[in-house]
Amino acid sequence: MQILSDISELRTVLRTLRATDDRPTPRSVGFVPTMGALHDGHRSLVRAARQHCGIVVASIFVNPRQFAPHEDFSRYPRTLAEDCQMLEAEGVDVVFTPTAEAMYPPGAAAFVDVEEVSDRLDGASRPGHFRGVATVVAKLFHIVQPELAFFGQKDAAQVAVLRKMVRDLDFPLEIIVCPTVREPDGLAMSSRNRYLSTEERRQALSLSRALQAAQMQAASGEHRASALLQTMRATLQEGPSARVDYVAVVDPDTLLPLDDVASGALLAVASYVGSTRLIDNALLASTTGNTVVPGKKKS
Ligand code: PAJ
Repeated sequence: MQILSDISELRTVLRTLRATDDRPTPRSVGFVPTMGALHDGHRSLVRAARQHCGIVVASIFVNPRQFAPHEDFSRYPRTLAEDCQMLEAEGVDVVFTPTAEAMYPPGAAAFVDVEEVSDRLDGASRPGHFRGVATVVAKLFHIVQPELAFFGQKDAAQVAVLRKMVRDLDFPLEIIVCPTVREPDGLAMSSRNRYLSTEERRQALSLSRALQAAQMQAASGEHRASALLQTMRATLQEGPSARVDYVAVVDPDTLLPLDDVASGALLAVASYVGSTRLIDNALLASTTGNTVVPGKKKS
């Protein structure tokens, strides 16, 4: 496994890897962008990439542009040595670890704005966040030039923004979305779970419980979004130190609110547990045959 932080060196290595293939169809490049502090959620993306692609590239870059000044950029966990060990064990070919200076040289002034969808859910709570995400992912796509790029359903709003960016700007690649990997008790894995105290870790279960309660309600025939929202809010507010950021029932592509979930929906929650902001979501399937499938045209 090669670990590279220089953009032009990475390009040269990838050109060589692609060219040294003797099969009639060139090997495709699968790309897994991350901010490090890797866990089994990231591992699942790498495994999917390994399964689908001849060459697997992962990036580790804590992107300053997607953090607001008051957010956790400076204390975001950085565990490069362990991360690289895990990526090597999973058969990654190349890890790209650029510096902030290489990604954003002084005076860098170009951004990618995916309008409207970037202002919803996490975009509403974290203004500018998805501008930072779209900009860094667009740059990484240009640098790595993958055929397939792997993202987690865990960050459902990020998926909606990046799918739209790929469609609207004609990036020649496909986004593959992998299911959310959870701890045995249901908590969605996240690099930010490391911030939680033992008591907060227990309270953090309110997010997955809220989603489960709404999913069960929907499965037993409730299709009014208002009823599901009420259930999720009630479960989230059970924890003494929980501060709910948002609770939403939306279309997974546009992230616009839905009144009725019969054609499928994204249930999404964000809540502060102590000072840590956690997010989670669940996709509801259609009960009418008219599924709202992210990235696909509705029938
Ligand atoms: P990061 O939070 O490190 O996540 C990297 C990828 O792992 C994302 O696609 C995310 O959705 C996925 N992921 C995280 N937790 C997961 C889980 N429990 N199950 C499945 N997948 C999970 O998301 C980012 O970094 C950044 O915004 C990035 C896209 C790298 C741009 O900076």
